[in-house]
Amino acid sequence: MSVGSLIDFDQLDEEVQKLIRESASARSFSYSPYSKFKVGSALLCEDGSVRTGCNVENASFSVTICAERCALIKAVSEGRQRFRSIGIVADRIDGRLTTPCGVCRQMLSEFGDFAVYIASPDMRQALVTTTHELLPHVFRKGSKNNFESSSMPV
Ligand code: THU
Repeated sequence: MSVGSLIDFDQLDEEVQKLIRESASARSFSYSPYSKFKVGSALLCEDGSVRTGCNVENASFSVTICAERCALIKAVSEGRQRFRSIGIVADRIDGRLTTPCGVCRQMLSEFGDFAVYIASPDMRQALVTTTHELLPHVFRKGSKNNFESSSMPV
């Protein structure tokens, strides 16, 4: 199954190109001695400010934090909860752009449906998608302060 569309880098808005470049810069700070797989991310908040993140691994593998969650936690902990888009840069795996893990999809979707731009370090193309496209039927909080498994009746 394919999600989103592949767009040439020079066809993207300036704002999006900048976000992808910021993601690539953040990737250089990746602490990934175990996987050697560097990931960078940049989250554009509704107020125009950006929070960047990289993956931070640990000898206790399961406590590793992905780049996307790193950026998200920085933003939320600094009072930002509304987002325009997120950029993610990582190497391709088997020729395919690297899409966020399930945990990151869940964390990002908590804050609504916003644009996701995924590129590899060569920045030739970006996969353009959204948080909800990446995680259909997401588990999320209901609108009346209760919890509903999905907004969509099944
Ligand atoms: N990783 C991310 O940071 N983001 C993703 O979207 C996928 C995976 C990290 C976690 C781990 O440090 C390394 O990549 C290999 O899984």
